[in-house]
Amino acid sequence: MNDNPPFAGEEVAARLLAWYGRCGRDLPWRRTREPYRIWLSEIMLQQTGVSTVIPYYERFLQRFADVQALAAASVDEVIELWAGLGYYSRARNLHAAACQVVAELGGRFPADLQDLMALPGIGRSTAGAILSIAFDKKAPILDGNVRRVLIRLYAVDEPPRAAAVEKLLWQRAEALTPAERPHDYAQAIMDLGATVCTPRNPDCSTCPLAALCQANRLGLAEELPRRQPRKPVPLVRQVALLLERDGEFLVSKRPLQGMLAGLWEFPCRQLTEGQAAETAIDELLVELGLPGRLRELGRVRHAYSHFRLEVAVFQVVVDDGLVGGQIAEGEPSVWLPPAELAGLALHGAHKKVRALLASPD
Ligand code: ADE
Repeated sequence: MNDNPPFAGEEVAARLLAWYGRCGRDLPWRRTREPYRIWLSEIMLQQTGVSTVIPYYERFLQRFADVQALAAASVDEVIELWAGLGYYSRARNLHAAACQVVAELGGRFPADLQDLMALPGIGRSTAGAILSIAFDKKAPILDGNVRRVLIRLYAVDEPPRAAAVEKLLWQRAEALTPAERPHDYAQAIMDLGATVCTPRNPDCSTCPLAALCQANRLGLAEELPRRQPRKPVPLVRQVALLLERDGEFLVSKRPLQGMLAGLWEFPCRQLTEGQAAETAIDELLVELGLPGRLRELGRVRHAYSHFRLEVAVFQVVVDDGLVGGQIAEGEPSVWLPPAELAGLALHGAHKKVRALLASPD
């Protein structure tokens, strides 16, 4: 990383502010300085693009005009309005933060970095965005767009998430943020990242920072940021059981909290380190109170963001009289014929398990 860039920090802010005056986007949350609205928009924009966020932002404000209205709602209603935006912990945190602001802060959002970061769902960058946009305070931001702009501006040719890079980018972000018009500066640098300094095909010919940009000078704008080296993804092994009785199969609904909440699955269990699938399936059969005549149908693989799953699938056909007492009838466990399994909201890995029924060999 170049520690002595050949330009003054003030030059960056001056160019960005002039560009924003000409090219800044007119977005709904830019017609207000109300901390509640700015906070709501920033939480929605954390992992979601502007065009997706706009209708959600407007619907939310119609239903919850202020932080008191949001705090008074049930978390289920908030999650319902959030449906489709993804990353649902944001909705839960949103509601928890609203309750905290109302109960502990008299309904007013704090204009202080540490106090904002003490609220659920607000990290350093979001706190910086709220401080600068709502309160016009000089506070750095380092969201995905700003990170890319800075990495190119300073030609940071290192893994972007390395701790040393992270620290330096925050220092750069802080040094570049002007004391004058931090409100406009924050939105200007985010807009530049979203519309000009884009991940692919950056439009350097129209960029107000092109003459200063070290990646542009070195012909590296397209190549930076470098890809973060991938961490090895752990393998989780599981056994699953296609348990058949009178042409019907046992399935259960997962709890409404946690991973794959509310989706359906076949009886299954995770293997311990080094455990053979046969041992685990025997344990599962004992747990279900069933005799152990079974055959292995095959294996399916499924990838999640933070682990890979490999499922060894076994089938057992039992007589009605042999079904163990451990299997409670009714929700969340039910017996269903294949036609009904086809329309059931199984989670992805167990849809692949179901497919083995159709083609057992
Ligand atoms: N991304 C995060 N915050 C934003 C904002 N205020 N405007 C546009 N894009 C954003």
